[in-house]
Formats: sequence, structure tokens, C-alpha cells
Amino acid sequence: MVAASSRSTLRDEQGVPVFGNFINGEWVAAASGVTFENTNPANPSEVVGYFAASEAADVDAAVTAAADAYPGWAGTSAIARANILYKASEILNARLQEVARDLTREEGKTFREAVGETSRAVAILRYFAGELQQPDGEHYPSVNPNTLLFTVREPLGVVGIITPWNFPVAIPVWKAIPAIAFGNTVVMKPASFTPLTTVHIAEVLQEAGLPAGVFNLVTGSASKVGDPLVKDDRVVAISFTGSDTVGNGIKKIASDRGAKVQLELGGKNPAIVMADADLDHALQQVLNGAMMSTGQKCTATSRAIVDRRIADELTERLAAKVESLKVGDPLKDETIIGPAISEDAAVAIQGQIDRAKGEGIQLVAGGSRPEINGGHFLAPTLFAGVDNQSFLGQDELFGPVLGVIPVDGLDEAIAVANSVRFGLSASIFTRDIATALTFVRGIHAGIVHVNSETAGAEPHVPFGGYKGSSSYSREQGKAAREFYTQIKTVYFDPPPAT
Ligand code: UN1
Repeated sequence: MVAASSRSTLRDEQGVPVFGNFINGEWVAAASGVTFENTNPANPSEVVGYFAASEAADVDAAVTAAADAYPGWAGTSAIARANILYKASEILNARLQEVARDLTREEGKTFREAVGETSRAVAILRYFAGELQQPDGEHYPSVNPNTLLFTVREPLGVVGIITPWNFPVAIPVWKAIPAIAFGNTVVMKPASFTPLTTVHIAEVLQEAGLPAGVFNLVTGSASKVGDPLVKDDRVVAISFTGSDTVGNGIKKIASDRGAKVQLELGGKNPAIVMADADLDHALQQVLNGAMMSTGQKCTATSRAIVDRRIADELTERLAAKVESLKVGDPLKDETIIGPAISEDAAVAIQGQIDRAKGEGIQLVAGGSRPEINGGHFLAPTLFAGVDNQSFLGQDELFGPVLGVIPVDGLDEAIAVANSVRFGLSASIFTRDIATALTFVRGIHAGIVHVNSETAGAEPHVPFGGYKGSSSYSREQGKAAREFYTQIKTVYFDPPPAT
């Protein structure tokens, strides 16, 4: 049990930390008093912590706090908000190693990648602190010479944010921080696999001086926390990253009641390798795109679409690299591939690998599960000669699995790349600028790379996909202002002269 407290952590009899929700500037237990356990995917016997198993009553309290805090926060000057965010960036930066370590302990990506992700969160905080000094409207000429005609962007109100486990610090920050920056208040439900990292975010914001109720964190399940949050009429906008099944369900409920909705969903991202590419470079980038974070990125490369003339050579060299990737404890320096997020996920991905083998798709590296500390590990896996229409060419596996699809020339490569329902990110490797330009123009994807991997997202540019990968709106950079604000157009005339 956790009592109301100004600190996030209490400990149970065994010394395991117990965390509450962060509502109205206080750490409080779920109304029911129930908690859930969060374990380390690399070593499931290690309990990372116990977290509030919240329900509708907790969501209601958080939304009430956010609604009460909204008028005051919306009325705070943008520069005052920026100062708090800048301070938060400094606090998070000072705590980078500690946050990254906890991120690795609950999510399983390597410590090196966790440090990179936490640094990205620091950069996002800095970016939005600076963005608050940018213009927030436009001035227009009017038919009437006396009319001052301009627009201002104003906040929306209470925003509901539902975040995934695969980027437990970067995605919560890139959603919640612009929401807060532009004057909204937030209720966030983090993924149940990675609540600890978001506890750190709440602590950082609290210490930076964010007023009570502006940012509220409610942990618990999708059905008991996500659902009431999406259905609450006081929540005027929802931002969600996760699976397309869940996202499309949220969109229906939220848009039926008139809320603004932003979805970031899956990907089946292609990397096209042309015969003229620098193969050493292409090889490394395709490998990184496919295998970093154990392939658990919506921007991961899952299809290598390769000119048939170099497909065998590239496959052979990729296979050697894939086999050499060290799988193991993500806190160890030598580890390149950590575990999958959960045993269910590992079993499901291995099931897809077995299905591909069963369908006669040629396995060239990996393919079976290593046994390390009872963790949820998978071997990085490579298939060759994949038919783009097969399930392996079409479905998102969200694991360390790459398929090589041989093609004849650029037109076929682009057609194959586009023949999936997703369109998040895409790469091409070539030395030829005409080829690169044809690809940039022809590819149906929101994020396009020439000679770099499909994953990665700089904090100051728009992020989001085409087709089934997104809901047209974009996150990050200036695009974040579009989603988290609405436009007021002002016709300002002087009173008639008397
Ligand atoms: C990245 O590629 O670094 O959930 C970011 C995801 C994406 C973020 C990817 N929304 O994987």
C-alpha cells in the first residue's frame, strides 16, 4: 500500500519499491489499493517494482486534477512554461545514467541504446523550451485597412496520452512535453511493461516546478485505465502510439465523441539495396535498422529489398553479421541484442519464425531461442528469398527478424516496397542521385532515408507515417504545435471614430 506522499517510492517488506500514481502533484495509491508487478525481461526473477493497478476512479481523479489545473496553466506565459521545461531538461540530463539503467531493467534494450534514448528525451525537452519562443500565430492583410487580422494558437484542454513500452522515455516525452508546452494539461497512461521510466519523468517535472495537476500519471491496464481515459468527455484530445488494432479502436471511440485523435501505429519498413550501393555501409545500416532494440521499433527494417544481382552476396554477408550479434544481458557492455519485452511476445515471434520455416521460407541465420537466465530472448533471425506477398513480407512481427526480398531493378523495388498496408519509414542505398530521387518521390512513407537506416527520429522534425502507420497528423518539431493547439482568428477593428 502507498499513502499520499511527495515522493514516488515506498518499499515493501522485501525492499522492493512500490509506486503510486502521480495525481495533482501527489503520489497516491490506486483507490483499490491493488498493485501489479513489473519484472526484468532479461531476468524475470528480478522484480523491478510494484505499480498502482488503477481503475476508472483513479482516472477520474486524474482527469479532474488536469481539468482544474488547466485554466491556470493555459494562462501562464509561454516563456514561464519554457523555463520549467528547460529546468526539467537539466534535471533529466543530470539523471541520465540512472534513468537509462531503469529503462534497460524494465524494457530490455541495451544500456547503450537506453542512454541514447534518454539523451533524446533531454533534447526534446530543450527543443520545446526553445520552440515556446517561436511565433504562435500569423498576421494577415484584411480587405478593411483598419482591421488588424491575425491568428493565435491556443491550447486544447485536457489531453489523454497512451504510450508504448518500446521507447519508454522518448515517446512519453515527445507526446507529453509539447502538450504541456503549449498550455494543455495531461493524463498519461504508460505501458504496463515500462511504468518505472515514466515515474522518473513525473519526478523530473515535479522537481522542475511544474504546477500540481498539469501532468498526471496513472498506471494500469488498457481496459481499466486506457478505456475510461479515452471515453471521458473532459479529455478533448488523445495521442496514442502502439498497435493498429488498439489504435483504431481508440480512434473510433474518441472521434465518435468529437475528440481530436493522433495515432502512431505499426510499420513494415523496407530498405532497398541497389547494385551500385556501398555494400559495407548498406549491410551495417540494414543490420542496425533490423536488429537494434531487438527489432522492437515501429521504424525497424523488416524487409531488405535487394537487387537480384547482389542478393546472394548481401544475404551471405548479412547472415554472418546476424550470427555474430551477441545476445544477452542488456546491462553488459558486450551485449548487442537484449530480450523481447515479455515471454508472450517472445513465444509469438518465435511462432512466426517457426511458421516461416514451416512454409519453406529459407532460414539463413538464427531461428531458435537461446536460453539465458530464463529471459525472454530470441536469436536475431534472417530469411532469404522471401516472397513479398507471404505473411513474412506483409505482417509486422515486432522482433529481430529480417527477410531478404530479391527484385529486378528500381521500379519493382519501389512497387514491392509500397505493397504493404503500412508506410512509416523507408530507406534506399545507392550512389546514383536519379535513383535516389525516383525513390524519394515514389515511396509511400512518412519518413524517407537515402543511405541511412529506417529507424531513428531527430527531435525537431515531423515524425509519422503514411497509410496504416498513422492518422495523418505528425508528432514532434513544429508539427506538434499543430496537434496540441487550435487556431483562433481575430478581426480586430478600432471603434468607429465619433
Ligand atoms: C526511432 O526510430 O528512433 O514506437 C523512433 C516506435 C516509433 C518511434 C521510433 N513511434 O517505434
